Formats: sequence, C-alpha cells, structure tokens
Amino acid sequence: MRFSSFSLTIFVFSLLFLSINGQDLIYDTCKTSSQQSPNVDFLFCTTSLQAAPASHCANLTGLGMVSIRLIKDNVTDTRCYIKQLLKNSAKLDPFVKACLNDCFELYSDAIPDSKQAMKSYSAKRYFDANVQISSIMDAATTCEDGFKEKKGFVSPLTKKNDATFQLGAIALSIMNSLQNGSK
Ligand SMILES: *[C@@H]1O[C@H](CO)[C@@H](O)[C@H](O)[C@H]1NC(C)=O
Ligand SMILES: *[C@@H]1O[C@H](CO)[C@@H](O)[C@H](O)[C@H]1NC(C)=O
Repeated sequence: MRFSSFSLTIFVFSLLFLSINGQDLIYDTCKTSSQQSPNVDFLFCTTSLQAAPASHCANLTGLGMVSIRLIKDNVTDTRCYIKQLLKNSAKLDPFVKACLNDCFELYSDAIPDSKQAMKSYSAKRYFDANVQISSIMDAATTCEDGFKEKKGFVSPLTKKNDATFQLGAIALSIMNSLQNGSK
C-alpha cells in the first residue's frame, strides 16, 4: 500500500515535471520511436529534438518537420565534412579515399532528397517523404558499409552516418504515428 502510493506520487510528479517543461510530446515521441526502431536511441532522440529550435512548442506534425530539418542540416554538414577530408587526400590511404569519394556522391544526392522530403512532408504526401527519407538512410548505411569491405580500416564517418540514420528512423516513426492517427 505505502509503496504503491509512493509510486503514484512519483508518477504524478513526473507528469507534472514533464508537462510544465512542455517536453511530454518529445518524450512520448522518442519513446515510440525507440520502441518501433531498434536503431533509435531514446537519449539521442530526446537530446536532438529538445535542442532543435521551436521544438518545445511544436505538435507532432511540427516535430516531424523538426526531425526532417535536422536530417537536411546533417547531410549538408556531412557532405561539407567529407569535402574537407578529401582536400587533404594526399595523406589518405587509396582505399579510404575511394570510400570517401563514394560517400561524397551519396551525401550529394541526399541533400536534394532531404529538400524533397520537406516538401512532400509539408504537403502531407507521407508516402513520398517516406521513400525520400528511406533513400537518405540507405545512403548513410552504404557509406558506412564501404569502409567495412577491407579489414583494418575505420570509418571516420561512423558518428555522422549513425546520426543521419537515427534521425531518419525518427522521422519515419513520426509519419507512421501521424498516418495511424488520421485513419
Ligand atoms: C545533426 O544532428 C544532431 C543530432 O540530432 C544535432 O545535434 C546536430 O545539431 C545536427 N547537425 C547539424 C549541422 O544540424
Ligand atoms: C500543428 O502545428 C501546425 C503549425 O506548426 C499547425 O499548422 C497545425 O494546425 C497544428 N495541428 C494541430 C492538430 O493542432
């Protein structure tokens, strides 16, 4: 009895804390995403969405846009980062250089895909947005896998590829919830 009323108090306080901070939607959204996709880390999700501008006032539709905008900024940033790495390519192993060139191509295509995804999403064409975001996630996976083809090499892009992939999975999960909600 005492234990359960104690748990209830904690529960009520957590709810109060969460809603006072306007984070309950981010919390719920990330909980759903991390349950739906084993690749989504709950902490990564909440940290990413909370840090994004205006995310605290956003409804679920708005959070979807926030996540797609993060994808666009991330792929743009990653392409730039790869370009910098390739500038110093004299010091690079030819295998690493070839992988980076492939990744550069993949991320160059991912930028227009992310812009298209924003347009599709705004127009509520979730099927199209889904295809475009999936293609960006494939690009991140393909880039990362390239480095695994030869033993003894470590991808310098693991963190960035992983972030792109996870943000994609979050966006897909939000669209999934939106579609299920409207049916
Ligand atoms: C990329 O995504 C991470 C994780 O969401 C975020 O913290 C970071 O600000 C993004 N990078 C850019 C350049 O937007
Ligand atoms: C969600 O927020 C957007 C603006 O970001 C607004 O246009 C839309 O009407 C809101 N949806 C609901 C269901 O409140």
